[in-house]
Amino acid sequence: MKVAVVGTGYVGLVVGACLAEAGNDVACADVSSEKIDGLRKNQLPIFEPGLDTLVERNQEEGRLRFTTDVGAAVEASEIVFIAVGTPPDEDGSADLQHVLAVAETIGDHMNTPKIVITKSTVPVGTAEKVRRAIAGRTSEKFHVCSNPEFLKEGAAVEDFMKPDRVVVGVDSPEAAEIVSELYAPFVRTGKPLLFMDIPSAEMTKYAANAMLATRISFMNQIAELCEQVGADVTLVRKGIGSDARIGSAFLFPGPGYGGSCFPKDVKALIRTGDACGVSLDVLKAVEDVNARQKRRIFEKLHEAVEGNLHGRRVAVWGLAFKAETDDMRESPAIDLIRALLDAGATVRAYDPQAVDNARHVFGDRIEYAEHAYDAVTGADALTIVTEWLEFRNPDFGRLKSLLKTPLIVDGRNLYEPARMRQLGFRYVGIGRGEGA
Ligand SMILES: NC(=O)c1ccc[n+]([C@@H]2O[C@H](COP(=O)([O-])OP(=O)(O)OC[C@H]3O[C@@H](n4cnc5c(N)ncnc54)[C@H](O)[C@@H]3O)[C@@H](O)[C@H]2O)c1
Repeated sequence: MKVAVVGTGYVGLVVGACLAEAGNDVACADVSSEKIDGLRKNQLPIFEPGLDTLVERNQEEGRLRFTTDVGAAVEASEIVFIAVGTPPDEDGSADLQHVLAVAETIGDHMNTPKIVITKSTVPVGTAEKVRRAIAGRTSEKFHVCSNPEFLKEGAAVEDFMKPDRVVVGVDSPEAAEIVSELYAPFVRTGKPLLFMDIPSAEMTKYAANAMLATRISFMNQIAELCEQVGADVTLVRKGIGSDARIGSAFLFPGPGYGGSCFPKDVKALIRTGDACGVSLDVLKAVEDVNARQKRRIFEKLHEAVEGNLHGRRVAVWGLAFKAETDDMRESPAIDLIRALLDAGATVRAYDPQAVDNARHVFGDRIEYAEHAYDAVTGADALTIVTEWLEFRNPDFGRLKSLLKTPLIVDGRNLYEPARMRQLGFRYVGIGRGEGA
């Protein structure tokens, strides 16, 4: 099938590359000429495991091309995905300006009947706005669908290739048939392709992210309580996660959720609720808890050094909002580093992938280490923000000899407190009993 994907970011690039891998003829279009120039040379603007191979292979085989000419990409396609960003507006609601700008471009270039699929996360009612924006500019026949994306950064290719489910809101049986054909290669193992009305599909994406964010904030509060009552949240997590009604995923306490989706989607859903007179109190609490949680690593360190951070040197392991991505949007590392700088500390940070993005945020206000051990050399404490694999089993002897003071504040509970004590570290985790 001939497909255009408009917006070549974390989502659009994965969608385009995976659809090309399945044999489709895909044009990825973006307004950023820098991104498109790089992609033509197989230089990816993001780090996503396995994506570079797909981009290179499919470009070479002629199934995938990159262009800044959105109109031409639309004209050459039967199916157009809108995968541009939907950042929060000033009041927290989703800003639809990019989505609607693309819809207008599609309307201007509707040379043949097409299916227009919204992949961006958008509030209920957006597909209808897209339909109106296109219809105002063409008399050609078209269908509008809502196909929210559930991929996880860091496992995006795998998630797109083998989704748990694909959700599609459709306006007609004809659209459903074409979308079924497009997705058939990805649901061969019997995973459901769920067709529904468009508002339900739009709502499903927000409800899914809101549920996941709720689990995280819930566990972060349980962790806080564990600290007060002398329980260990890692054991409590196993205890509740083995209940089939609860399940074990998304129960890890940590430094608070970040990334480009949960914070903005929770906010947008709250605004949608407020606008229709439904106060989403659970989600308001989820947001508040998360805002507090993002200060926890700093507070624990502050307490451990008795408030004396001025002039101290602090190592930060991990800048990305989670492992296996370079994405720093809303990362808890940003909150931690800002608080450290405000307290007069100096920061030396290490991340295997996110340093370039960190330079955009902090410039030369912090130092960037080439290796994990470089970051800790001479530091008064090590803080851990991201659960990168390489942090999980370091050479503790080396770590101890490089740190000026053997103090670790671990926002991801990567190590065993008893072992760390035995090794001579002062080790502070999240929710791990008294003093954790
Ligand atoms: N990142 C994720 O993990 C994820 C997962 C599921 C859903 N989503 C949703 O998918 C959407 C895209 O997210 P993302 O993380 O890929 O965003 P992104 O910021 O990485 O990419 C968006 C891209 O759209 C381009 N763009 C903006 N306006 C354009 C226009 N008028 N024409 C052509 N290109 C344009 C930008 O240059 C950018 O490259 C959002 O709605 C997001 O909520 C994201």
